[in-house]
Amino acid sequence: MTHPAILISAPYFTEDEKARIEAVGPAVLAGTPEARAAMPEAARLAIRAIANKGHKPIDGAAMDLFPNLRVIAQFGVGYDAIDVAAASARGITVTNTPDVLNEDVADLALAMMLAWSREIVKGDGWVRNGTWASGKELPLNRKMSGATVGIAGMGRIGRAIADRCAAFGMEVHYTSRRAKDTPEGWTYHGEDVVSLAKAVEWMVVAVVGGEKTRGYLSRAAIDALGPRGVVINIARGTCLDEEALIEALEAGRIAGAGLDVFYNEPNVDARLIALPNVLLQPHQASSTVETRRAMSIAQCANLKAYFDGEPFPSAVN
Ligand code: 8YV
Repeated sequence: MTHPAILISAPYFTEDEKARIEAVGPAVLAGTPEARAAMPEAARLAIRAIANKGHKPIDGAAMDLFPNLRVIAQFGVGYDAIDVAAASARGITVTNTPDVLNEDVADLALAMMLAWSREIVKGDGWVRNGTWASGKELPLNRKMSGATVGIAGMGRIGRAIADRCAAFGMEVHYTSRRAKDTPEGWTYHGEDVVSLAKAVEWMVVAVVGGEKTRGYLSRAAIDALGPRGVVINIARGTCLDEEALIEALEAGRIAGAGLDVFYNEPNVDARLIALPNVLLQPHQASSTVETRRAMSIAQCANLKAYFDGEPFPSAVN
């Protein structure tokens, strides 16, 4: 009996996404470390490609279960869950799905900014629960258009966010490893996120995830934002100091936050859930039908490239 060459290593794939993987080649689902360890040796030896999704770690030991593994195709632009150095050391290529999600992630960043500043969630509640009909008026909220915004990380997603902010007449500041070719008037702060925070009220975290950016939006930067500061995070929970953020929010040292990502997803810190000045989202920035389909197609293009002996469309190592 021949065993499938593709391992589906996460339980989160939709039926459509699984069917697209299976169109590349026969695949077997083993969505947990236990299920993978329980696979018979012959089945493990047959695996040459992993289709992964989500944020559960894949380290060197997980790779070593599959001696003939040559590619790990991640569903997502972020690949921080995969130990890329361990993959490279084993001759394994890691691929991701960049670009196709830039617009949706940027849309969600702006949606959270608008929802936070205009109290959209509370307003909806007031209409539904009769508070408005009882004669009360929603307290005046805060103008977003024309305000200052800091983009921490001017990559492709950061740029899509900045372009939207500019369309709202906002004054754009940013950090990045290098100065970018931007419209006139955008201010580059090198990699100095504290300087960035001092210059703006809105702070959007858009750096890549991983060890290098752990705590990128530091305690000092959060405090430098000041009492009108609002932190938006669509990157990774690890990209900011969540403990410092919670303390600053609780003490009112900053005004609020809109968060799509957290340290310990999907179990969000109870202190964040208790805070009324925080807007919470369930890591859904790329979750539109259109974009998830494009991500699935991009993942499978990488898988197919491997089996066809073609160059990978988007390898990261
Ligand atoms: C994931 C994400 O794709 O692209 C990323 O890096 O964080 C998301 O879009 C999604 O959580 C499924 O893995």
